Amino acid sequence: MLSTVNQITETHHFFGKQSKYAYSEAIRKAVNQINRFLENDRFYSGEKPEMLKSKQDLLQVDREYPLTIDDALEQVKMLYLDHAISFHHPDYVAHLNCPVTIAALVGDLIASAVNTAVETWDQSTSATLIEQEVIRWICHEMKLGEQADGVFTSGGTQSNFMAQLMARDHYAFEHFSLNIKENGWSDVVNKFRIFCSEKAHFSIKKNAALLGMGYHSVVPVKVDERMKLKPEALARSIKEEKEAGNIPIAVVATMGTTDYGSFDPLADISPIAQQYDMWLHVDGAYGGCYVLTDTHKHLLNTAHQADSMTIDFHKTLFQPVSSSAFLLKDQKHFRYVSHYADYLNPLDSKNPDQPNLLEKSIQTTRRFDALKLWFTLKVTGRKALAASLEKVHLLALEVYETLKADPHFEVAHKPELSTMVFRFKSPVVAHEKVHNAINKYIKNTLFNSGQAAIASTKLNGSIFLKFTFLNPATTIKDVMNILKMIKETGLEYKAINRY
Ligand SMILES: Cc1ncc(COP(=O)(O)O)c(C=O)c1O
Repeated sequence: MLSTVNQITETHHFFGKQSKYAYSEAIRKAVNQINRFLENDRFYSGEKPEMLKSKQDLLQVDREYPLTIDDALEQVKMLYLDHAISFHHPDYVAHLNCPVTIAALVGDLIASAVNTAVETWDQSTSATLIEQEVIRWICHEMKLGEQADGVFTSGGTQSNFMAQLMARDHYAFEHFSLNIKENGWSDVVNKFRIFCSEKAHFSIKKNAALLGMGYHSVVPVKVDERMKLKPEALARSIKEEKEAGNIPIAVVATMGTTDYGSFDPLADISPIAQQYDMWLHVDGAYGGCYVLTDTHKHLLNTAHQADSMTIDFHKTLFQPVSSSAFLLKDQKHFRYVSHYADYLNPLDSKNPDQPNLLEKSIQTTRRFDALKLWFTLKVTGRKALAASLEKVHLLALEVYETLKADPHFEVAHKPELSTMVFRFKSPVVAHEKVHNAINKYIKNTLFNSGQAAIASTKLNGSIFLKFTFLNPATTIKDVMNILKMIKETGLEYKAINRY
């Protein structure tokens, strides 16, 4: 029995001194496969879902005999790499997915191999220092001040969750002497209200529900024609909620809304939040990294007035998923999530020279996601990153001018960041229903055929298309080609349906 066990475990499956050669070979082969992925002509093969599902022999994992690395890599290619969505492809202009830097890939490779868990000093030593340095850097860019600190998270949703949790627990503690962390719920919390623009990310509502506060605790505030929260509407909503007996506890200002890239007027929102002693959270998941640019940094020059901030490097700093941070102006608020476990970070062994990042996170085991960004900042450099962000913004503006001049299109807004919401709108069609059907058809047809990935959203109940530009390699020529496909597909729908 023991010899069978030895036979299985003595092989070179595990990363370690004994497997240096096997490791290098496996990685070399994997890189070759990845390079073949880069040869894919289209952003997506266009393979039908039923065909992908039918590849059962490739999908199945419960097989008796293991495969060689070469055979498994071939399967990965046939099942995944041949059909994966290429975010680096110029015809992918759909969601907030960016091409990644080579430096980040190197950083991620190292982080995966070493497999550091950044939770306690005794598991992460200098990795702790690297994460803290990246956090120090971004807090400094945001001018959050001496007491600022932060932690890497799984994404904007989790960062927003932490902000909402702290806003709730802090207000309950300061105004009602409640310790929700220790003692749980209290009825007064049912009256807590969080305000954000009607264009804020859905995670604000979802998180409120997960925090037990319900969707109804989030009050959507009207936006202006540039899709920015209206401060006077915020002041009015707060008053109305107070008159109804509810308790305003927090405002979320979005710096770069998901659809429109719009920046809420933080300088006007901040005094309102202060007036009511509300927590001010900045959701900069999309727009936060633009603090590095000359074109947008002025929009973030009041970010230091916020209590907390979300910033996603996997959206706008060319990092592989996940790479996101939650920042606090005053690090003492981490007490709302801190916990001390005898086996990991006993309170009586607390040592400021050997910090345990676990005390700032809602996760326990956590990937060393900071390394790839640290590596990117060292190798790619701040200037090149900022220039790339400016480039995709300027591309969005150029596309906006083109669309405005074309009678086949209706534009919803002037881009403030790098998204562009618009729709194909034939002047001879009157019905909204038909416009909706045409735009849906365009999006689905182009995706399903692998020609182009564009997103869609709704504006006042109507379906609009959306470009999200995050690839600095995408040119105006590439976008003109996509617009040509959109026009042809729209006209094709009209011809088929005789409109
Ligand atoms: C403004 C904003 N906030 C939060 C999020 C959620 O981020 P994540 O997908 O990283 O959880 C998004 C995602 O698109 C976003 O656009």
